[in-house]
Amino acid sequence: MDVIGAFVFFILMSTALASVPKYKLNNGRDIPAIALGTFLGFDERGMAKSQNKQLRDVILGAIDVGYRHFDTASVYETEGEIGEAVRMKIEEGVVRREDVFITTKLWNTQHKREQVVKALNESLQKMGLNYVDLYLMHWPIGLNEDYSHSEVDYMETWRGLENAQRLGLAKSIGVSNFNKEQLQRVIEKGNIKPVVIEIEIHPQIIQKELVDYAQAQGVVVMGFSPFGSLVMRYGMHFPGPKLDNPLLLEIANKYGKTTPQVVLRWLVDRNVIPIPKTLKYKRLKENINIFDFELTSEEIEKINEFDTKTRYTLPSFWQTHPYYPFDRIDNPIADPFVKN
Ligand SMILES: NC(=O)c1ccc[n+]([C@@H]2O[C@H](COP(=O)([O-])OP(=O)(O)OC[C@H]3O[C@@H](n4cnc5c(N)ncnc54)[C@H](OP(=O)(O)O)[C@@H]3O)[C@@H](O)[C@H]2O)c1
Repeated sequence: MDVIGAFVFFILMSTALASVPKYKLNNGRDIPAIALGTFLGFDERGMAKSQNKQLRDVILGAIDVGYRHFDTASVYETEGEIGEAVRMKIEEGVVRREDVFITTKLWNTQHKREQVVKALNESLQKMGLNYVDLYLMHWPIGLNEDYSHSEVDYMETWRGLENAQRLGLAKSIGVSNFNKEQLQRVIEKGNIKPVVIEIEIHPQIIQKELVDYAQAQGVVVMGFSPFGSLVMRYGMHFPGPKLDNPLLLEIANKYGKTTPQVVLRWLVDRNVIPIPKTLKYKRLKENINIFDFELTSEEIEKINEFDTKTRYTLPSFWQTHPYYPFDRIDNPIADPFVKN
């Protein structure tokens, strides 16, 4: 290879896109097998916000390294910067709108049937787009404006999501944070079958029963907070496997990968779409570089043994709500949304 050839080869290799497979949804549409998470967590002022278009620039970088699926929600307040980045890349001719898959979510205070289309239109306006690929009901829990409990049935809300799909504002619809019985009810009573359920999945909560049920019904599973105890949460380390866990390290060394890549691959090997979040360019590349190896069934089983049914998204302050999806606990925390 001459010098110019070597240079071109180097440029091609260094900009090579990670190749991401797709799953078929039960309505025939495609969904990329990894999504970038965009919830920015909490800081001392409450929910963290993107400063100086930081998130927009992360999304621009993510598109450059091959991400085509972004997970957001109206409550994250990240829809605007995601839409801006996607529109910029469309204008540059890097992607077409149909190459990018955007998932967003309806918030709990907009659960009345007639509120749903209005809420989605607000999200679309923030994004500067005219449809989303996937609209999820964020929780089965309806709340009033003041965050008092509303008893609106999530099946009513589902009718609103069905309308949004019929109007073409969402190409597909699904649910998040539903338990098995709630998912089953939507499948049985809905006019449109959910295409996706998005739930918390990491080595400490493997969700075997719910994943098996959803997949048997043709519902694709998306797994949030995939790193579990490997990373700090709420500014703290929690018990459970860390980045230097000996089992994860052994598997990582075998494949020439990192332990976060092993955990993401464990989800992929269970046909679950992982939703890792990072704001760091190096980690964007690391987290998507997981489609060139495969765990053995023994390795998957070993990682499954970390399961302690530990949730980091546990809004016990809603546990008196009739549609609270999780086991109730003895000492629920106070509702941070309710102002005294
Ligand atoms: N449906 C729901 O109710 C729900 C609930 C929670 C989350 N979600 C979705 O799931 C996404 C991900 O969940 P999450 O943010 O809770 O957790 P996560 O993706 O498991 O963890 C994110 C943390 O890991 C760090 N990190 C990322 N890649 C890393 C790597 N390769 N090595 C070491 N550290 C790494 C990130 O730090 P840096 O940013 O500094 O890299 C960040 O602190 C959210 O953003 C959101 O889109 C949905």
